Parts: sequence; structure tokens; C-alpha cells
Amino acid sequence: MSEPAPAVTPKSISMDELVALCRRRGFIFQSSEIYGGINGFWDYGPLGTALKRNLKAAWWNDMVERDLPGPDGQSVDIVGLDCTIIMNPKVWQASGHVGGFADPMVDCRQSKQRYRADHLVVLGRAAADARLYAFTSGDEEGLAKATKALCKYERIEALDAAAHTTRPFTALSAEERARCLGPHANEVGSLTEPRQFNLMFETFVGALRDEDARAYLRPETAQGIFANFWNVVDTSRVKVPFGIAQVGKAFRNEVTPRNFTFRSREFEQMEIEFFIEPSTAPEWYAFWRDRRFAWWQSIGLSSANLQLREHEKDELAHYAKEGAGTSDIEYRFPFTAPGYGELEGVAHRADFDLKAHANACGKGEKMRYFDQARNERYFPHVVEPSAGADRGTLALLCEAFTPDPARPSGVFMKFHPRMAPIKAAVYPLVAKDGLPEIADSLFKDLRRTWVVECDEKQSIGKRYARMDEAGTPYCFTVDSESLTNQTVTVRHRDSLQQERIALDAVRGWLAERLG
Ligand code: GAP
Repeated sequence: MSEPAPAVTPKSISMDELVALCRRRGFIFQSSEIYGGINGFWDYGPLGTALKRNLKAAWWNDMVERDLPGPDGQSVDIVGLDCTIIMNPKVWQASGHVGGFADPMVDCRQSKQRYRADHLVVLGRAAADARLYAFTSGDEEGLAKATKALCKYERIEALDAAAHTTRPFTALSAEERARCLGPHANEVGSLTEPRQFNLMFETFVGALRDEDARAYLRPETAQGIFANFWNVVDTSRVKVPFGIAQVGKAFRNEVTPRNFTFRSREFEQMEIEFFIEPSTAPEWYAFWRDRRFAWWQSIGLSSANLQLREHEKDELAHYAKEGAGTSDIEYRFPFTAPGYGELEGVAHRADFDLKAHANACGKGEKMRYFDQARNERYFPHVVEPSAGADRGTLALLCEAFTPDPARPSGVFMKFHPRMAPIKAAVYPLVAKDGLPEIADSLFKDLRRTWVVECDEKQSIGKRYARMDEAGTPYCFTVDSESLTNQTVTVRHRDSLQQERIALDAVRGWLAERLG
């Protein structure tokens, strides 16, 4: 029997290998792959769909359906919503997305590439005649290319650490931009000054394509919740404090989609807008920050790869400036390691959104919520835990990816059993002598409760290898002994240990481990 595989840190994982496994096993494909793909869009194959659905179902179950006490000792009350992707464009004017949901962009006139201004860094001397070399922050290859080009231009062997420094591109003057070489250019001065670029996808509703017909694909699910706040209060028995949860697609025309699904142009969010009496914001903010941080660990992300990062004052979004705070829950992805990338944001948005919609629809103060217990009217404050289902799925994939040269597959996916796309496999050792019939009957029984697979083709080693890459925690094998003593072997994915258990005990054995 092999030793258990050594623990790996995301840093030691090759993203190329993970992406290849995702393609090979049907977790994630490029969208429209047969036509060469489309940048920033991804499709989930059978295993990926099951994994992402398990993540979203766990979120919904644990956040909306499960009973849990809040900081006030009362049960946390959350109801669901499923609203449209295209809404009245006034929603996006009121929320500030039409005017402000923009990134400063830099275009390269020569290579026709577009870069986020705050991602560009320049290397070079501060002298008035020095040539500057731009590259994308964090791009090791880009830095190496810029260094080589600069050394060649200045006819030096190596950089002088005191003289050759890096600076943000946004800090350059027009005269310095004229001396700057873009990352994909071969002539200086091709980079434009930073210009605002709105990230919302536009479309037209109805037959005419004029200004009145312009609409947007939602860039977040949150605004649908705010716009429906009054409907929910009027039609259900909720009272502040309570939350509205929504899971759904969001669209952003990201300028530089990258790192697999991490920054996509179409993605799914899992958002809660939790409405509270304003003076209770600090307790509820701390509650949601800590609860969400613990939740990611409960579904299998290791605490060693997660961190909570409180935003600095100057980092806070416009709606969170005066609030109790904003925190990012961050995961150490292989492409950010040793640093971290955002998985979820938890923000105290104050009453910015409800007030903005109340004012924009013309009813203003009349839209204040009436708190019966306090006998007062106010706009509730909001604490928003906003998570990405695709980033969550990617973090689960990174966490699970465990190289193990001792196995035929060379790797296995160590998913938390709750997240595993397939919970168990049932295999006859050989496809004869009555073994397939026993396997089939066990399979049909287990399938009533869990996602289980049964297969009699290929060698048992190849079938195990396939389940290792799918991340299936348990494989039950029916062999000749099963005919005589009514037992099967169970193979544990992580330890590779095998044990025999009675056929009629399999259901109870699995229930104990999977729930
Ligand atoms: N309503 C608040 C809001 O949308 P956000 O930080 O812009 O906040 C929340 O997005 C979460 O949505 C992020 O933490 C991330 O997980 C996910 N997300 C945002 N942009 C994304 C993108 N381009 N691709 C994949 N996920 C994204």
C-alpha cells in the first residue's frame, strides 16, 4: 500500500496541470472551444457543473435555510430572491454604475492592446532623457523582458538598483509617457493616457436600437435585491434585522480577464444583503465577516490558505466610506502565491443603496422602513457578504489538486466529501461470474440517496485512477469473495487504504461519512 500523498501548498501546484486536468476530466472547458474559444468565458462540464452546484447548494442551505443565532441571540432570518438579469436602466443610474463603474484604461496605439492603468508598472531611470519600459504588475516574464530591453538600450550588463526603479504608470507625466515603451510595442510613446472604460455590457430592449432602448446586463446581483427590498417587506413577514439572498449570473466586460476563471466576463455571485438598524452595524458586520470566513473552511478550504483582510480607509468603496468596515476573504491561489486573491467581500454599505433608489424613483423619505418595535422610520443599513461562485469553485479545485506520483493518475482531487461531484463508485472487479449483478443492485440502492457511479469497463486500476481525478472519496468493489461472504472492499481516496465491509452495511457506512 502506498504512503498517503504529502500535503501540497497551492504555490507548488502548476496551474497548467490543473487547467489540463479540468479539461481532461470535464470540469471546465473554454466557452465555444470548437471555434477557438472566447476570452473571459468558461463552460462547466459534467464534473464541474456538479462541483459548482454543490458549492451553491451548500451556500444556500447554510445561509438561507439553516437555523443559526445572530449576535442578538435571535435566529438569523434570510429569504430568497431570483430577479432578472436585465432591469430598468434607471437601477444602474441610481446605483452609480452608469456613471462610475469604470476602470482607468490605457490603450497601445501600436499593438492595439488595452491595459488597466493601475496594473501597469514602469521600469527605468528618473532622468529626463531616460527610456522607460512598461510591464504588467506581477508578470515575471514581462519584468524580465523589460529588464533585458533596458540593459540592451543602455548598454549595461545589469540594472543598478539605486538608479533603475519601478513606478506606477499612472504617476507618469505626458512627457514621460512619450519616452515609455508599452509591453507589446516596439516604438516608444504608443501608450495613451489613462481613460475611463465602463465595465457594463450593453444591449437594446425591443426592436429599436436607440438611446431609449439601451439596457445593461447586470454587473452584480445586489441591485436587484435593493430594488426589491420594499416588495419583500410588503409581502413577507420579515422584520429588520433580516437578509435577502440571491445566487445568479453577473456580467462585467473585464479588460484583462485572466487566471483561468478567476477574472471572467460572465460569472456567478452568491450575495446576501442583510438589512439592520443602523446602530447595530458593528456587531452585524463582525458577525458576517467571521461567519463567512468560517464557512469557507467548513467546505474544505484550509485555514492556511485563507486570510481576512480589512480594507484601509483609502481603499473603501464610495458606499462604504462611513461604515463599520469592509473585509476581503482571500484565498492563496497558485497564481497569487505567496499573496492572496479575493474570494468574497463583506462590506457595511450603510444606507447608500436604499436611499439612492428611494430618491431616484422620486419617493425619497416616504420609502423609509417603519420599525414597529422602535416606533421609528429609517433607511436600514446593509451588511453585504458578496461571494463569487466561480472563484469559490476555482479555490476548491486548487485546494483539492494533490500530486501523488505513486498513483497511476499521478494526481488526485482531495475534495471535501460534501463538495465531491461523485460521492462513491461501485465497481465489479470483473464483468462476469455474477459480480456485475451484485454491483448493480448496490449501485441502485445507493443512488437513491447520493450521486454514485457504476462502471464495469476497463481494468480496476484505470477505473480507480479516473475516480481519483474526479475526487470521488470512496470506491466499493465487488469481487469473488462478495459471492461467498456478502462483503465488498472499500477503497479510501486519500489514504488508499482498503477494508472489507458487509454489503448490507454499505448504506449506513456511507451515511455516517456523507450525511
Ligand atoms: N455587490 C458587491 C460586489 O459585486 P465585488 O467585489 O465586485 O462586489 C463580489 O464582487 C465577488 O464577485 C468577488 O469577491 C468575486 O468573488 C466575484 N467576482 C467579481 N468580479 C469577478 C470576475 N470578473 N470574475 C469572477 N468573479 C468575480
